[in-house]
Amino acid sequence: MPSTPPGARGAVITGWGVALPDKILTNVDLESMMDTDDEWIRDRTGIVQRHVGGTTAGLSTEAGRAALDMAGVGPDDIDALILATTTPDRAVPASASTVQDQLGLTSCGAFDLNAACSGWVYALVNAHGLIAMGARRVLVIGTDTLDRITDYHDRNTGILFGNGSGAAVLEAVDGGGQLLGWDLDSLGEAESALYAEIGGVLQMEGREVFRRAVRLMADSATNALTSAGVSADDITLVVPHQANIRIISASLDRLGIPLERASIVLDRTGNTSSASVPLALAEALDEGRVSDGDLILFVGFGAGMSAASAVVRWSPNAAEFTDDGANDE
Ligand code: UT7
Repeated sequence: MPSTPPGARGAVITGWGVALPDKILTNVDLESMMDTDDEWIRDRTGIVQRHVGGTTAGLSTEAGRAALDMAGVGPDDIDALILATTTPDRAVPASASTVQDQLGLTSCGAFDLNAACSGWVYALVNAHGLIAMGARRVLVIGTDTLDRITDYHDRNTGILFGNGSGAAVLEAVDGGGQLLGWDLDSLGEAESALYAEIGGVLQMEGREVFRRAVRLMADSATNALTSAGVSADDITLVVPHQANIRIISASLDRLGIPLERASIVLDRTGNTSSASVPLALAEALDEGRVSDGDLILFVGFGAGMSAASAVVRWSPNAAEFTDDGANDE
């Protein structure tokens, strides 16, 4: 199992931001569009509403700008922009190119990364790889506009999905940085459980995805905890992919982590795929749920079926890291 090698140049998150389109689709709105009801959706998923509208590049630019402002960095300071998305605005070019232009990032590589709902955690790990290889700052955005590939008349899928974006600035530090351990996973044999053809809408075997998701999340999180050399008890905050409150609850049960330690936004956002983890992270940070030294566990899963986890020791201050490495403890 891979882990962050000793001596690798690390990074810290120095800014974050989110964007949600204004238009809201409530469960009650859906009652007139398909054979469902508010109570069933709340009970079986935890979702009350989702946001629809906007474009992947537009939402990414809004979230990315907020993250850059918070980090206090200018357009010349970003070396790479990774946009995790499964719903780019066009087949070519990458939506990251549009975002790079709209943010005015002048000397920066930009690319899309598609690992479905695990995308932002995949991007976070890859950004650390770029920083280990010399990048100074990487803007990591997760955005999806799932309303473009969701049939809101199909009750198997239409109750779940919405649009959103979340972003973070990762900044290189001299020491080991925040990332203690990570895991990237793929179970290609299960890809038929959740897919959309090019130009088509999402097709899903809901129960099969549910069953596999619980195991995948628990296994991936366990791998990341092991690679970080910490236990589930050490985790202060879990930032899970926001698909269904019952999936989050069952996977945390397996890990022995109380649900109260998770950041949950799905009641207000639905499943926003690549955006769900950074949206939940931003809310927890804004609410002051994390203090210096606390451990955060990110865990995502999605179509593919993909999974990704990361364990981070929180410190928002790059200056606190030295060559001794704050993660050597
Ligand atoms: O990022 C990954 C994305 N996808 C997921 O994470 C999805 C994972 N799966 C799920 O979240 C759940 O399987 C669903 C929310 C999709 C479905 O919940 P469930 O508890 O697995 O429901 P079910 O498919 O077992 O259906 C239970 C009952 C059935 O009725 P009967 O046969 O018991 O009479 C369904 O026909 O609920 C019925 N049903 C609904 N009723 C009202 C199924 N969907 C709906 C609905 N509204 N939207």
